[in-house]
Amino acid sequence: MILDQFRLTDKIAIVTGSGHGIGRAICVALAEAGANIVCCARTQSDVDETARLVRECGRESLALTCDVLETDQLESLVEATMQQFGRIDILVNNAGGAIPRPALKVSERSFEKVVRFNLTSPFLLAKRVVPHMIRTSGSGSIVNISSGSSVQQIAGMAHYGAAKAGLNQLTHLLGVEFAPSIRVNGIIVGQIDTPGAASVLSDEMKARAASKIPMKRLGRDTDIAACALYLASPASGWVTGHSITVNGGADEVPLAFPVPALEEMIHEDGG
Ligand SMILES: NC(=O)c1ccc[n+]([C@@H]2O[C@H](COP(=O)([O-])OP(=O)(O)OC[C@H]3O[C@@H](n4cnc5c(N)ncnc54)[C@H](OP(=O)(O)O)[C@@H]3O)[C@@H](O)[C@H]2O)c1
Repeated sequence: MILDQFRLTDKIAIVTGSGHGIGRAICVALAEAGANIVCCARTQSDVDETARLVRECGRESLALTCDVLETDQLESLVEATMQQFGRIDILVNNAGGAIPRPALKVSERSFEKVVRFNLTSPFLLAKRVVPHMIRTSGSGSIVNISSGSSVQQIAGMAHYGAAKAGLNQLTHLLGVEFAPSIRVNGIIVGQIDTPGAASVLSDEMKARAASKIPMKRLGRDTDIAACALYLASPASGWVTGHSITVNGGADEVPLAFPVPALEEMIHEDGG
């Protein structure tokens, strides 16, 4: 039966940035499909809650604090997973994001931090996870969570869009390099109503964005979780190196952040 191909019975999945939002929804979706989940973010109480939701699905969970910007914490995350479960089948690189900012106002340090958060950390974690996938089952699936900013022109998102575009190409290249044992795919996420998005979007901006999306609403975290389940599971067994767009059909940018004209910014800075 085709639905059997979506089952993840007894698979072990690590989902980064899973204290709330899209990451939490992915944990619950994979758990409902039968996986045991390692949930991680920086706030213990949030990951504890995600882990509780996973256990409600009848699956085991490990709730860990991990800052994906810190290489030693990525190592500890993989070690703790191996200690608890003895294998890793699925990695979802979900932690990521950035605050919109005019390009001229992005410092060298914050540019590098955004690249580290959205591109370098997923690479470093994949590097650490793949040897365990190969040694234990000889296979695995990696899902990278990208953004519409990686393919659309959104003012104020140069740092973030560039990092996520790098993530798309990392997905593309690792897909071929790790095939046929390990599949690597991505999701190009449109505007989702999550706690992270709420911190940068007013209700008025959300309503305006929804009106420009052909499906006439912002996305839900479960819209992305459903695609993550497809990509993590054998249902997508002949898909690798590609990113799927889930955005309510919004080819046109639904959002505009207020970015002052260059001249205005340069005069402000006394330039
Ligand atoms: N929401 C959207 O509209 C949208 C659109 C396009 C793409 N995306 C992408 O989707 C992914 C999830 O977005 P979201 O909106 O669900 O985010 P969110 O609501 O802000 O949740 C982010 C999660 O990541 C954790 N996190 C933040 N910094 C972290 C770090 N340094 N190390 C580990 N965990 C960290 C947060 O918890 P702590 O702060 O406690 O660590 C939280 O649990 C991101 O990659 C984002 O770029 C989202």
